Amino acid sequence: MQPAQFNLARYNVQLASQTDFVGWRDAARRLVLNEVGPEDIAWSVAAESDQADLPSVPEGAQLVVPRDFIEHAATAFCHSDPGRFAFLYRMLWRLRSEPKLLAIATDPDTRRLEAMEKAVRRDSHKMHAFVRFRKIGEGSDERYVAWFEPDHFIVERNADFFVRRFTGMRWTILTPYASADWDGERLAIGPGAAKGDAPAEDDTEALWLTYFENIFNPARLKVKAMQKEMPKKYWRNLPEASLIPDLIAGADEAARDMIARTPTTPAPHHAKVQAKHWPKREPAEAPDDDASTISELREAAKGCRRCPLWRDATQTVFGEGPDNARVVFVGEQPGDQEDLAGKPFVGPAGKVFDAILDDAGVDRQKVYVTNAVKHFKFEPRGKRRIHSKPNAGEVQACRWWIGKELELIKPDLAVALGATAALSLLGKAIAVTKMRGQVIEREDGLRVFITIHPSFILRIHEPAEKEAERERFLQDMKQVKRLMAA
Ligand code: URA
Repeated sequence: MQPAQFNLARYNVQLASQTDFVGWRDAARRLVLNEVGPEDIAWSVAAESDQADLPSVPEGAQLVVPRDFIEHAATAFCHSDPGRFAFLYRMLWRLRSEPKLLAIATDPDTRRLEAMEKAVRRDSHKMHAFVRFRKIGEGSDERYVAWFEPDHFIVERNADFFVRRFTGMRWTILTPYASADWDGERLAIGPGAAKGDAPAEDDTEALWLTYFENIFNPARLKVKAMQKEMPKKYWRNLPEASLIPDLIAGADEAARDMIARTPTTPAPHHAKVQAKHWPKREPAEAPDDDASTISELREAAKGCRRCPLWRDATQTVFGEGPDNARVVFVGEQPGDQEDLAGKPFVGPAGKVFDAILDDAGVDRQKVYVTNAVKHFKFEPRGKRRIHSKPNAGEVQACRWWIGKELELIKPDLAVALGATAALSLLGKAIAVTKMRGQVIEREDGLRVFITIHPSFILRIHEPAEKEAERERFLQDMKQVKRLMAA
């Protein structure tokens, strides 16, 4: 019988955990610089490391690998394929003599790397969407616990996302291989758990189910698309999943019923929020051209009457982000949820935008995000307010604010998300599909990167097309990241 390759290996490298990328990188560097071929290494994971002595880096030796390999490798490293350590080492080994390897889309190793990354990213999106916290304890003991079963080793990679989303809560996410715990100040990664360690139900569950039943729109039901977005394997951990079979079964009847019940006036809560947010002062008392900081400008914008859109909108949605950001992202105008929250890009398009920025390694906390038009323009349809595109006059009226924001922030780069943003930033209409991915330098020297609006991805129904468009936008955001560094 053939002896296992493991026993023949000269180096038996034991990593501290499934996600010990730092350990892998260090060992790989030493080994590759000592010309140890992939066939002479066995990789494994052991809590108690019984490490073979690894050779030290030869004097003066330097490892040169393409810049983005480490990024790709760090993502693929989270894949659950046990052969990934050896596979990534083999790629590193090959890259020394084939530096363009990552650009050869037909190479089986490059294809495998891409597929692994894609699987990890997809699993991360599912985690963002399907983690459901349940409350335990009361008062100062209150905390939220969730059980999630990822396909890959993605907890460490995604924990920051939940810290940003739920900074004010104390929470723990349990998975079979690791847990993440946030106590309001500190994030700790701990061991895995069993499903039974997570609470089964809480007080908010009934509320959540009612909410899901109400937002479920039977007229838009597409069972296949829904199962693709929310594969059945996640259903068992989602409280709302228990409702899905009945909701699907009653969909036709429910759709007819819904159409018959459609009301014709906007929901009363919009008026309440408006009353709270609309400044009492008259425009004359709200001079807006002497602001010398972003927060003064934001304050002044609350009373903006430069075009009639303020009348129906709930409030001005001003830009957000550090006032010394190096890059400013410009969208079109706030949507329904942004109008109510008073913050840009927090609704469905914002979620797509956040997830893709995250995948591209751009930290949203470090960039400034704003809109070409600062008030929500819509048409009431029943209870819903349907987005309506701002016209050139409205964009022109609002250019004053963008101009001021850019003047105060002085970014190196502005990103036009879609045609309205491009019109606002450049002062003329351009064909975004033609100019996408290009940088246009304005007369004042500001570089403007052109891309699509993330809501474009949301509007695509065909899953393969949607994924392809998401991928293109991800590539655009990676280019933005490179431009930020340039
Ligand atoms: N679309 C935008 O352009 N801006 C937002 O803030 C939200 C959606």
